[in-house]
Amino acid sequence: MPRTLDPATRGALAERMRFYRDLGLTEFYRRPADPALLNGQSEDAAASEAAPGASTANSGEHQAAPSQAPAAPEAAALAIQPNFFGEESAIRSRKGFQAPPQITPAVPPAERAAALKLIRDEIGDCTRCALHTGRHSIVFGEGDSAARLMFVGEGPGADEDAQGLPFVGRAGQLLNNMIAAMGLKREECYIANVVKCRPPGNRTPDPEEAHTCSPFLFRQIDVVRPQVLVALGATAATYLLGARQPLAALRGRVHAFRGMSLIVTYHPAFLLRDPRQKKEAWADLQIAMKELGLRLPGRG
Ligand code: URA
Repeated sequence: MPRTLDPATRGALAERMRFYRDLGLTEFYRRPADPALLNGQSEDAAASEAAPGASTANSGEHQAAPSQAPAAPEAAALAIQPNFFGEESAIRSRKGFQAPPQITPAVPPAERAAALKLIRDEIGDCTRCALHTGRHSIVFGEGDSAARLMFVGEGPGADEDAQGLPFVGRAGQLLNNMIAAMGLKREECYIANVVKCRPPGNRTPDPEEAHTCSPFLFRQIDVVRPQVLVALGATAATYLLGARQPLAALRGRVHAFRGMSLIVTYHPAFLLRDPRQKKEAWADLQIAMKELGLRLPGRG
């Protein structure tokens, strides 16, 4: 007797299958289980093989840095030297720059929701930067206060501003599919942005705005203390890592960040504009899955 699925489960499965299909994953098979694959060198090789072919140049509000073919290891090593692009000091010397706050002591999981509420209360009806003049809501962030996986985007768009929640528009739907493809639920993750108020016309937040708001983000990160943090797009990567570099130099590997693993990938809004890059984003998410010890699809 075939098992029937309820409509909600069927819908969720269909969404996930659509995302896999977009990634070019159409065949599923099981290999004999090999735990070494989850942690071993061979998986590193597989992740980098699956990662980038040449990317087209991209532009747009969420993708300040140009996409490039993957850097050869030596090139990548060069690219991550501070000031290689002469930009780290530019970011640090912009008006409003504050050094990221000291890492705060770990909060016990049961107290994290309350600790996040204290940060939200401190933000109050914020007027610290010019973004407050055009906002409808402060989009603080949402999700499991003790999540193992956290996503950081750029800033709220119109839907997020209207609902007061991060990633609830079209980009949010794609993010939900990305999370589902990882075998997780959105509510198991924590999601926040570099700035908490919508920049007019969805422009990239300027450095003063980002530097004014990001200390709250750093404190949220320290409270949630996820095992893995995923920076969605160039703005998140820039303000988390404290240096502007091409996304190609930052993707495809694990960065040590405040005692956590940080992975950089494309912003979902960029992926909506250029779906061909979804395969590369999937390779990044698989690195995150490996860090979390999650089973990779098709790997038994
Ligand atoms: N884009 C972002 O960077 N964040 C959101 O919350 C929504 C869209």
